[in-house]
Amino acid sequence: MSSKIALGIDIGGTGIKAAPVKLKNGKFQEDRYRIPTPKPATPDAVATTVARCIQHFDPPVGTPIGVAFPGVIQQGIARTAANLGDEWIGQDVRALVRERSGHDVQIMNDADAAGMGEHRYGAAQGRDGVILMTTLGTGIGSALIADGQLVANTEFGHTMIDGEIAEYWAAESARSRLDLDWDGWIVNLQRFYSEMERLLWPDLIIVGGGVSKSHHMFLPHLNLKAPIIPAELRNGAGIVGAAAWASSASKREEKNAKAANKKAAKKSQ
Ligand code: BGC
Repeated sequence: MSSKIALGIDIGGTGIKAAPVKLKNGKFQEDRYRIPTPKPATPDAVATTVARCIQHFDPPVGTPIGVAFPGVIQQGIARTAANLGDEWIGQDVRALVRERSGHDVQIMNDADAAGMGEHRYGAAQGRDGVILMTTLGTGIGSALIADGQLVANTEFGHTMIDGEIAEYWAAESARSRLDLDWDGWIVNLQRFYSEMERLLWPDLIIVGGGVSKSHHMFLPHLNLKAPIIPAELRNGAGIVGAAAWASSASKREEKNAKAANKKAAKKSQ
């Protein structure tokens, strides 16, 4: 794998997917590799599966590796994991995967990864202004990007609307759980996205997640101020965004470490 490649891994509710990504255009360099998400999805079992995905591609040491995680991540530590299980909370996911795989990795929220992927290579490529990315799946993930800068860990799917968490009735999973037809689901989506507009005034809204394949069934029926468009990278957005993020985060970490060393050396003179 050359230095122009980074490995992206996406931890989803049903599958853990990985692919090496060409950083110049966001395309996969090799076919995606997928392993079903272990049940139960304990930190131990998931970290071992992520390590198997890494081993499958056997990247040279130093290849940036990004892992998209379905919960809030601060400095590699999981703070929430609504759809994985409470034992994740407080887990140092970065250290766990590093220990299992022998590679350093960068961990980020899955919707943040998808949003970065769409901004860098997809539906929002090169767009300024406020972009709201939402992923409709088991839960609702969100990413907020303002003039190209990500505000990490927004959890707009957990907005309380009428006393209920939005993702409970507006995620893709709500369609079967609540036995909603398209029209019923559209009513719920309208409530969710109207609330987002009331609070955030985005210039563009992007909708990802598996159901975005059927965007013509629901997007044209939403009445919003901002354009609302389907994601372009579809299910690959998490992988691509995590890879791109890992590449910039590794560079940033290196730069910060150099600056800190320089400062320490100056102090000791
Ligand atoms: C989690 C988010 C995640 C989303 C999609 C939500 O339940 O709270 O962090 O991005 O699901 O996986």
